[in-house]
Amino acid sequence: APYLPGDPAARADLEALRRAAGGCRGCPLYENATQTVFGSGSPRARAVLVGEQPGDQEDRRGAPFVGPAGRVLDEALEEAGIERGDVYVTNAVKHFKFRRPEGGGKRRIHETPNMREMHACRPWLLAELRTVDPDVVVALGATAGKALLGSSFRVTKQRGALLPLPALDLIGTPEAAEAAGDAAEAAAPEAAAGEGVRLLATIHPSAVLRADDREAMFAGLVEDLKIAAIALG
Ligand code: URA
Repeated sequence: APYLPGDPAARADLEALRRAAGGCRGCPLYENATQTVFGSGSPRARAVLVGEQPGDQEDRRGAPFVGPAGRVLDEALEEAGIERGDVYVTNAVKHFKFRRPEGGGKRRIHETPNMREMHACRPWLLAELRTVDPDVVVALGATAGKALLGSSFRVTKQRGALLPLPALDLIGTPEAAEAAGDAAEAAAPEAAAGEGVRLLATIHPSAVLRADDREAMFAGLVEDLKIAAIALG
């Protein structure tokens, strides 16, 4: 079952959204992907984690973060003390974007979604946020950061800081970054607990897999997630 026990109305809403998103043709990515990969997790999760887009395995299996990046994420969450039951996991873009190798071949090579595709997919993400209504939103990597805070978002500059989540009607727009402000509360995360919805950005778990120094990258991811854990109280 894709959902853990929780609020039945929220679960029904998410199921309806999932069904609707299954037929989404809001951008051309549905043409080559196997299926829409909608979010999964507790319908009343206190944390919503936003990735980039499904990868190869997610595309085949129809669930987010079930491949190699998902294993890194699961480990990092555990080390940060965030329980899976407290989490709803989704992606900024819900179809796998890929290309084939030059000259042919079966391999599907990941391609980063562009702003147009992120924009087309935004209603699904907003509906998930509205339904789950979390206390903390975690942007995993640059694409998720841009989807939430607009194209000026830079993960290297903004990771690890607890920001106020912009109003849903500003999310992904150029005004979002401004609304989140440079009110970086990373220095005193305790102070930020319980004051409206928080946004925290960190690296994408697959950056750990690509890094020369995996251990350091993983430790950094855990460190950031621990700040989200503090905000969860
Ligand atoms: N990477 C993502 O961003 N999302 C997934 O679901 C899997 C890998």
